[in-house]
Amino acid sequence: MSKPDKDINHGLEKNIQTDFQKAMSYGDYLHLDKILASQHRVSDHHDEMLFIIIHQASELWMKLIIHELSAAIEYIRQNDLEPSFKTLSRVSRIQQQLIQSWTVLSTLTPSEYLEFRGKLGQSSGFQSYQNRLIEFALGNKNIHTLAVYQHQTELYEKMLKALQKPSIYDAAIHALVARGIHVDQEVLDRDLSKKYEPNQSVEEAWLKVYRNVDQYWDLYELAEKLVDIGHQQQIWRYHHMSTVERIIGHKPGTGGSSGVTYLKKVLDQHFFPELWTIRTKL
Ligand code: HEM
Repeated sequence: MSKPDKDINHGLEKNIQTDFQKAMSYGDYLHLDKILASQHRVSDHHDEMLFIIIHQASELWMKLIIHELSAAIEYIRQNDLEPSFKTLSRVSRIQQQLIQSWTVLSTLTPSEYLEFRGKLGQSSGFQSYQNRLIEFALGNKNIHTLAVYQHQTELYEKMLKALQKPSIYDAAIHALVARGIHVDQEVLDRDLSKKYEPNQSVEEAWLKVYRNVDQYWDLYELAEKLVDIGHQQQIWRYHHMSTVERIIGHKPGTGGSSGVTYLKKVLDQHFFPELWTIRTKL
């Protein structure tokens, strides 16, 4: 094949960049060589590609959620609520993207999945450390979930640190106090590595905000953004559970759990509990 003639336009605009000897290209910037060389099927089954890409794409979106949530937590801790709203809105849109992706996976039939399931060994989304970081950031802390990282010292240490960091809900409760609303000291001094437990003073604090919206508009907006994110996370979990049931029925999971029964129990772990209970009391 002959080389393209540089002097002929071929329908492109004249100034379009074509020489990347010294300039950074799209692929260089995005490291596409690495990303697009990371889909290694362990079977020769056609549908395994969908299975790999849906997981990898989900992990990329999770990375962005963690990035945005960390920024939001920092803003709220500094009592700078406005910028956190923008960030939390973005988190919510990313979650919608993740929820939507289940419709692609639902085209995988039980018999197609069975063609390569045996080759997956013990690997399971249960070991997704990014999912765990998101759950921690939303307040669902559980040290026992870290056992699966014991063989990776560096990651295990990183996860232990994350477990001890304030969740977005801890930050929001401190924001209530910063506005002069009472919350029991034991909540403020709580062991951050433990799952957040509902507390009456926190419920009363949120009730105050919701009953005096004009006075506490920013806290009210923050609360509604959190409810939105907690709600979407539950929808993601529900779609996962339901898709799993559609594909493997009630077989145990590759990660060793009871499968759908376990995933249904996960749905009982609510985020930001008082923001839900106040709805009955308002
Ligand atoms: C054929 C598709 C899928 C099946 C059959 C499946 C099955 C399961 C099962 C049974 C569990 C429970 C743990 C275990 O015993 O393995 C689990 C957990 C999990 N899966 Fe999936 N999954 C699928 C797709 C996905 C996808 C696309 C993602 C996206 C990243 C994902 C993320 C997760 C996460 C984060 C958990 C942990 C949930 C928790 O402990 O809260 N899964 N999956």
